[in-house]
Amino acid sequence: MSKLAIKGGRPEAEGLRKLIPPWPPLNDDIRLSLIKALDGRRWCRLYPGSLCERFEEEFARFHDAKYGVAVANGTVALELAFKTLGVSYGEEVIVPAVTFIATASAVTEVGGIPIFADIDPETAAISPESLKATVEERIDEGGRVKGVTVVHYGGYPADLDAILKIAGDYGLFVVEDCAHAHGSEWRGRKVGAIGDMGCFSFQESKSMTAGEGGIVITNRDDLIDRARLIHNIGRVLGKPGYIHYILSSNYRMTELQAAILLEALKIYPEQLKLKHEVGEYLASKLSRIGGVDPLRRDPRITMRGYYYYVIRYDPREFEGLPKDRFIEALRAEGVPASVGYGMPLYRQPAFARERLMETVPGELVERMPRYEDMYLHGAESFCASEVTLPHQVLLAGRDGADLIVAAIEKIKENVYELL
Ligand SMILES: Cc1ncc(COP(=O)(O)O)c(C=O)c1O
Repeated sequence: MSKLAIKGGRPEAEGLRKLIPPWPPLNDDIRLSLIKALDGRRWCRLYPGSLCERFEEEFARFHDAKYGVAVANGTVALELAFKTLGVSYGEEVIVPAVTFIATASAVTEVGGIPIFADIDPETAAISPESLKATVEERIDEGGRVKGVTVVHYGGYPADLDAILKIAGDYGLFVVEDCAHAHGSEWRGRKVGAIGDMGCFSFQESKSMTAGEGGIVITNRDDLIDRARLIHNIGRVLGKPGYIHYILSSNYRMTELQAAILLEALKIYPEQLKLKHEVGEYLASKLSRIGGVDPLRRDPRITMRGYYYYVIRYDPREFEGLPKDRFIEALRAEGVPASVGYGMPLYRQPAFARERLMETVPGELVERMPRYEDMYLHGAESFCASEVTLPHQVLLAGRDGADLIVAAIEKIKENVYELL
């Protein structure tokens, strides 16, 4: 019987920190690439043969897509996708209730209305049943539903078979928010261009990073020129000067970001493989403990590019120990556990009516649901049970996973010390 670390015992996973490589990944190739770009004194992409152009090609190829448009961050990647797909004032985009706020705020930024659908608490992804019911309800109520954004939460692909079918039935576009899902695969094909457009983030905590950055990918020949035009303040890429064909904004990525990302992309496939393999290993170990279930395993997910490693905690299996206390105990044992976003998005202060009135035209707010009155069962139960580990723990290999499992087992065996 060993004393829990939170009670002064030896941390079970004290070796884990040393096994996790420093983040963000940095090697001599990244350093040299950045210095070369700096010395080249071309820091903006507005010249032919730019690093951004190369990165767009290479990342799109890696993600089984024809085209990419590199942008400043993942939030504007979503805005660019919505603008390209023609979301106009007052049109509605269905989004999952549990995600980072940009998935929804990008809709309001282009003048649209985000409508929350529920998630499946076993997968953390949008529930196809709720999506269908939400679309039908909005159509009945006269809403102008234009599309759906799915989030591959924590890198776990949403059920794209069911979602594409529903989208096809109702004539909706599908945007894949892949900010968590670099390298994730659905039936052997990388996510992102399975729907109409896919948006990625390269912010520092993400699996591939340049500190900030983003990209939109697509297979649609009819969208790519428009996306490039919109992202370059209405100018045709590669044509210098001041002819602007549409009113737009500047979403461009810098050459310095692209210099880092081109090298990050070279080391990513190996990290992805390791994370996938260790993630599967950890899932099979966790499933045997009871009360710390991984997300539902689905054979259609052939590769998972993790962001969060999600654990669904059930206090009933831990003598009623509250989740917050479980997380504290796990952290004391040396496992960097946390929660994801902590609450469904409709609970965020930004969605309270008086706050919306400060940021969105009043007439549009009148057409929005009363977000603060919402209660979606799957989203609520998922957030209540969710414990997350950062994806970097998977880079600690099977030895790291064994330490995580040992720490959880120790808490379970000694839970009475905490009651
Ligand atoms: C699901 C999701 N979408 C979009 C974004 C926005 O990306 P960025 O932070 O690069 O703007 C994030 C970033 O955290 C995210 O997690």
